Amino acid sequence: MPQAVPRPTLQRLLRYLRELERLEAEGTPTIASDELGAAAGTTAHQVRKDLSCLGTLGRRGVGYRVGDIVPTLRAALALDRQWRVALVGAGNIGRALCAYRGFRERGFHIVALFDSDPRKEGCTWARLKVLPMGQLRRTVAELGVELGIIAVPATAAQGVADQLVAAGVRGILNFAPARIIVPPGVQVRSVDLAVEAEQLAFLVSAQSTQPPQP
Ligand code: NAI
Repeated sequence: MPQAVPRPTLQRLLRYLRELERLEAEGTPTIASDELGAAAGTTAHQVRKDLSCLGTLGRRGVGYRVGDIVPTLRAALALDRQWRVALVGAGNIGRALCAYRGFRERGFHIVALFDSDPRKEGCTWARLKVLPMGQLRRTVAELGVELGIIAVPATAAQGVADQLVAAGVRGILNFAPARIIVPPGVQVRSVDLAVEAEQLAFLVSAQSTQPPQP
């Protein structure tokens, strides 16, 4: 697959994978492109286009073989391996993320937890001991951590990002409502539930101002 996949394509591929894994767990052997498109909120044409760049072609009258396409898609999306993750911020969000089994099930292993509050040092969450920030660099190197999660207040987020990058982390999932600047070669994705709620509120509001469909 090309290295620079446009973000909307990446999001669609991840939605296909979710649906295909669900079908695999159910034991469904094949799926047609129109069904996969409907499940992922797109068209059969778009599904065929997206999946053809993986060299994965459905068969006319048969569709895509779930058992073949799941491993191909996982490999193309770099999800056929484990990712080691360091989490910074042992507060409400950090502790909830440590306990979230979905991360581990999908290959993201939180292997180290850090916090700057000396009162939290040594406490254990989901079998992870809270480590002081002074141990970040060494721990990241020793455990081969590639990804970091930021769950600290917004004012501390950039400083934590800088420390993660200096330690060698290549990707950051940022939960703090702050814009993080990183050097080239490091990726950042920010998660903001308030933005999701705002989008939902707008869609509900726009819907209620539209005339009812005949
Ligand atoms: P919290 O106050 O419970 O925990 C923050 C933790 O960060 C504390 O344990 C604190 O000691 C630690 N910390 C502060 N400065 C630090 C530093 N420089 N280095 C290392 N650790 C440091 O906060 P909570 O509720 O867990 O929220 C964490 C972040 O997530 C906040 O920025 C909050 O606004 C954000 N948040 C994001 C949501 C989202 O949808 N993305 C939803 C809710 C909260």
